[in-house]
Amino acid sequence: MKMINVVNGPQDVSRIILGCMRMPALNTQEAADLIKCAFELGVNFFDHATCYGNGDAESRFGDALPLTGINREDIIIQSKCGLHFDRREFDWSRDDILKSVDESLSRLKTDYLDALLLHRPDLIFEPEEVAEAFDTLHKAGKVKYFGVSNVTPGELMLLKKFVKQPLVFNQLQFSLDQTQLIDSAMYLNNTTTDRSTDRDNGLIDYCRLNDITIQAWSPLQIGMFKGCFVDHPDYPELNKALGRIGEKYGVSKSAAAIAWILRHPAKMQAIAGTMNPDHLRDICDASKVDLTHNEWYELYLASGKFLP
Ligand SMILES: NC(=O)c1ccc[n+]([C@@H]2O[C@H](COP(=O)([O-])OP(=O)(O)OC[C@H]3O[C@@H](n4cnc5c(N)ncnc54)[C@H](OP(=O)(O)O)[C@@H]3O)[C@@H](O)[C@H]2O)c1
Repeated sequence: MKMINVVNGPQDVSRIILGCMRMPALNTQEAADLIKCAFELGVNFFDHATCYGNGDAESRFGDALPLTGINREDIIIQSKCGLHFDRREFDWSRDDILKSVDESLSRLKTDYLDALLLHRPDLIFEPEEVAEAFDTLHKAGKVKYFGVSNVTPGELMLLKKFVKQPLVFNQLQFSLDQTQLIDSAMYLNNTTTDRSTDRDNGLIDYCRLNDITIQAWSPLQIGMFKGCFVDHPDYPELNKALGRIGEKYGVSKSAAAIAWILRHPAKMQAIAGTMNPDHLRDICDASKVDLTHNEWYELYLASGKFLP
């Protein structure tokens, strides 16, 4: 497994994270088997959120971990808060953050989160309240490291003005299908394609300049949860290129797609959401692959882009 020392954050953590959003579909024993399989493959980082299955993902994980024989301190448990589909709002208020963490800890059956991320921007957030909540959580030993998800440079700067702890992660959508983080640099000033639009104010460069590790969510999904592009009939060119490159390195197409994310010099982590141990084994083979400069471009172009 490729590992990373996160600047100002946890050390020696896996570049591939197991995303637990889909864990409510498993029973406790199946969840334990998957967590054990991940750990044996070198994955020591697990991503949660309070909203995944309305708390069921965290509960399933909390029930399953003791069945695995894995020591709590040997893994990184990250959760996210602030996203309330049930209440139809996003909430970064002090009280909501504190309450969410207490509920996560109780569902996960642990005393601390290694990392807490704010899931999606609360449009009316008050950075002073976030700062107060993070201080309280840090001082109480309930959260070691902090970060955000789906957050722009402006929002990060606003938070950083008040929050004392370093913000070490930004979890963002990035995959061979969803390349909007990097497209605008490729097509700068080009009026023939919508991909030239800078939608996030140079977020990828901002994260790199400020030592914020990007965690790529939904690395194999078409759009927002429209299915996996690997072997999908709508992606013939991409699958041909993934197949060719996968064959060269003796790995699956899924591994080649994840290797494409890991090859980016931002040193991102990739959050795999599979609940199938065989698929996870395939995906983790990405760690054996170092794509060449030219192969990285071959996959980017095969995903439907052109050289300007
Ligand atoms: N911060 C955010 O806003 C945000 C948003 C969404 C997700 N996330 C995080 O990102 C994680 C991953 O998201 P995701 O589940 O959408 O990611 P994903 O890994 O891109 O997609 C997982 C889906 O692809 C399928 N799949 C994987 N390998 C396959 C293969 N070889 N052939 C066919 N199907 C395959 C899986 O089915 P099987 O289970 O059958 O393999 C599963 O349905 C989540 O668990 C969560 O932690 C964060």
